[in-house]
Amino acid sequence: MRIVFATGNKDKMREVRRILGGLNAEILSMKEAGAEFDVDENGSSFSENARIKADVVYALLEEKDPDLAGKTIVLADDSGLEVDYLGGEPGIYSARYLGRDTSYEEKNRIIIERLSDAKGKERSARFVCAIAAALPGGRGLDTLGKMEGQIAFEQAGENGFGYDPIFFLPEYGKTSAELTEDEKNAISHRGKALRAMEELLRKEDL
Ligand code: IMP
Repeated sequence: MRIVFATGNKDKMREVRRILGGLNAEILSMKEAGAEFDVDENGSSFSENARIKADVVYALLEEKDPDLAGKTIVLADDSGLEVDYLGGEPGIYSARYLGRDTSYEEKNRIIIERLSDAKGKERSARFVCAIAAALPGGRGLDTLGKMEGQIAFEQAGENGFGYDPIFFLPEYGKTSAELTEDEKNAISHRGKALRAMEELLRKEDL
């Protein structure tokens, strides 16, 4: 079996290889599978977007090589940050929030500003990651992982990316940008969704 992960992101591929490495399958990025597509994410939830991406990429690979597609599983993910005080924003618009060209330093500053009146539990937020698998024969598998936290009062940390510097984890007393990569992967939304997908795929006859 081949598992093609629909991302162009090298960091994601590294994590995917580490978590799915024990499966009886070759793990490829889209590029390695000879396919690079930009799929329109027009669903209304993380799960819908992940499903759209997985199915579209599977259909394109099938069009290219039907025999090979019969031995291929396509995985796709969609993730983002939900801030309760902002009614769940930025949510599925996390990458586009406040403009694609706006730096995360700026986006993070604005989110903190918008929460200037929020105290204690009102600052609750979570990272969410949905993973969808498209299997031969039209079957699908879906998982969802979450990491709960709070919006910090100031940005802190240099690790991670995106909204990590404002995502405060009370039990660690630091933001997810202050965790090492391994520490974050062990508790992250993406780590959880990937490990849940690994368990589902383990039950498949690969
Ligand atoms: P995508 O799933 O790669 O499209 O990511 C969506 C967006 O969600 C990213 O561009 C970030 O803004 C945000 N995001 C998702 N996961 C994380 C994370 O682990 N840390 C920080 N930001 C994240």
